[in-house]
Amino acid sequence: MSTSEINVEATVNGEAVRLRVDPRESLLDVLRERLGLTGTKKGCDQGHCGACTVHLAGRRVVSCLTPAVQADGRDVTTIEGVAGPDGGLHPLQQAFVDHDALQCGYCTPGQIMSGLACIAEGHTRDDDEIREYLSGNLCRCGAYAGIVAAVRQAAGEA
Ligand code: FES
Ligand code: FES
Repeated sequence: MSTSEINVEATVNGEAVRLRVDPRESLLDVLRERLGLTGTKKGCDQGHCGACTVHLAGRRVVSCLTPAVQADGRDVTTIEGVAGPDGGLHPLQQAFVDHDALQCGYCTPGQIMSGLACIAEGHTRDDDEIREYLSGNLCRCGAYAGIVAAVRQAAGEA
């Protein structure tokens, strides 16, 4: 174990987590490779695609560009923490199903984490605003119409 590693104590999806991390380790790699939370996807690993979006202290971040040390003392929510306590789908997850808002599904966890933030931030006035505030999340399958419709539906239920 490197002496340069740093203690991180965070709450991930409601559970306390203690780790020693290299200061260069990304939150994405810690979530996927050390905590087994592989729902968060690695697309570009350069901050361009949004596939790795999670919530840190209630705000969406691209976890590939977020050092894991920034999670110290904070709450992290990933797609695995979005479902209800009974395991039922969150209304936004259900809306993605209702509107066929995915094809391969690789971008979907990031789209949902951004969509949840978009709703919480109140940026759902119309489809243009939803598109603008989801513009950091790319979908190579082009499922954008369904994604916008799903966010619109869930915003109406919020
Ligand atoms: S993997 Fe993080 S933005 Fe693409
Ligand atoms: S559903 Fe395939 S990349 Fe979005």
